[in-house]
Amino acid sequence: MVFVRIYNIVFAANKKTCIFADSFIHQMPFSIISDEFLLPSPLVRLEDEYTSAAGVALYLKREDLIHQQISGNKYRKLFYNLHQARAEGKQTLLTFGGAYSNHIYATAAAGYLHGFQTIGVIRGEATEPLNETLAFAQAAGMRLHYASREAYRHKTEAEFIEKLRHEFGDFYLVPEGGSNAFAVRGCEQIISELEQEFDYVACACGTGGTLAGLVVGLLQQNKKANVLGVPVLKGADFLYQDIAKLLADYQQVYNIDYNLPQAAAARFELFLDYHFGGYAKRNQDLDKFIVWFQAKHDVPIEFVYTGKILFGIYDLIKKEYIRKGQKVVIIHTGGLR
Ligand SMILES: Cc1ncc(COP(=O)(O)O)c(C=O)c1O
Repeated sequence: MVFVRIYNIVFAANKKTCIFADSFIHQMPFSIISDEFLLPSPLVRLEDEYTSAAGVALYLKREDLIHQQISGNKYRKLFYNLHQARAEGKQTLLTFGGAYSNHIYATAAAGYLHGFQTIGVIRGEATEPLNETLAFAQAAGMRLHYASREAYRHKTEAEFIEKLRHEFGDFYLVPEGGSNAFAVRGCEQIISELEQEFDYVACACGTGGTLAGLVVGLLQQNKKANVLGVPVLKGADFLYQDIAKLLADYQQVYNIDYNLPQAAAARFELFLDYHFGGYAKRNQDLDKFIVWFQAKHDVPIEFVYTGKILFGIYDLIKKEYIRKGQKVVIIHTGGLR
């Protein structure tokens, strides 16, 4: 299968090549994956009638511009995982995701650029032709392995993983959504790139890994901001527990000498009512907001993650939860291809 796509790369400032873009690129017959990385990601001010009326200084950290295929939190989450895989001498990355998973797409690209074999365990039945996500992943060399919805439910269990090792040999396991202690460490770097102080840092939440990283960054770097999270799933209060677990793992892996989950609990809040019906659900209010925002600020956003966090933050400004004189940065976690 030949898969060719042409990308226009127009990043002029602060261009930097990093871990993913190393010597493996020359092994490719042709490049379908960009080797350009934009770091630190740009911070842009969002000024409009709502922010001006409220007297709120709103910023957007354009993590979506980091890379064409490994954008936003995918870059952050994979960065230390790939380092770890390399340190453990692994040659193969195995991960999990749905047929439209941004994480599957980005892992295939990162593995390709960095010289790892990749295996994607995909939830559900194989369908032909492959959708754009899976076609790209396969073209980037990812081996696709389909697991029934029932089998997929066991993806974190030792027996299931053992079966995969038996079938595919040794691999470095990146969990679904990429969230683990190494991902948290990667997302922490977003805070390192913020030179100013903020009252709030805000992000959309799926697994909570990105939010956990932001909180750790603020704690470790003695910054005063609190984190506001907007889960995109309905009924996502389980995230408090999941985030505490991620932080406990991080504490163990990185030998933190204080109770990290406890310290973190006081530094973030989840707003559970901006899910619009659940994952990838939308309504007219959200669609109208997205059309307005994109026209006003000329920044592409999507309805699954960034549309919901932006809608939530504008609503919190309207409701004066975010008050006059406060400074807020929203993390644009990507999700656009
Ligand atoms: C574009 C985008 N934004 C935000 C998230 C949520 O991140 P997390 O799972 O770390 O909460 C995801 C899911 O990984 C995503 O793909």
